[in-house]
Amino acid sequence: MPAMLSRRCADESDTLRLGALLGAALRARELPPLLITLHGDLGAGKTTLVRALLQSLGVRGRIKSPSYALVEPYTITIDGLEFKRSVQITAYHIDLYRFSSPEEWLDAGLGDVLDGRSLCLVEWPERAPGLPVADLDIRITTNDGVRDVLMRAGSSAGAAVIDWMASAAADA
Ligand SMILES: Nc1ncnc2c1ncn2[C@@H]1O[C@H](COP(=O)(O)OP(=O)(O)O)[C@@H](O)[C@H]1O
Ligand SMILES: [Mg+2]
Repeated sequence: MPAMLSRRCADESDTLRLGALLGAALRARELPPLLITLHGDLGAGKTTLVRALLQSLGVRGRIKSPSYALVEPYTITIDGLEFKRSVQITAYHIDLYRFSSPEEWLDAGLGDVLDGRSLCLVEWPERAPGLPVADLDIRITTNDGVRDVLMRAGSSAGAAVIDWMASAAADA
């Protein structure tokens, strides 16, 4: 089975549900460190999806779009499913819309963010050509107001997340 998942999101609530499903998959995998990239035009729903994801991971309060700050960090804690240990991870929500050169990536101190221990959610990844291959790439296309969301794995960790989502959706 190819590690790919596509969903049509007819309205915002569909996108919110998909974000929550992704959050459930990350919880089920005990918050693996991942690089998740989000492609799509302005207004496609990238931030909307990330908000739903972060909320489903327990982030409370306002989740600002990082279009100005470039990066917004969140601490995420879940109770472990096994062994009753809790798991904590830092999530970085990043928006590279304003980036024009790879040097800016380093100037903004974002090099440290991709430390392989965090959950990185990157909007406009195409603006930073030096970005590593994502574990999970999300592509949102808009057609007459309807959003088509395609998720593709770039690693075995990403594939495991997609497999979990596919079987959870099949059970629903
Ligand atoms: N199916 C949908 N999925 C996501 N957002 C939608 C959808 N339909 C309408 N919208 C609206 O489109 C906008 C998407 O904005 P946002 O998530 O900030 O986009 P992006 O981060 O891709 O620029 C929001 O105002 C949201 O209410
Ligand atoms: Mg956005």
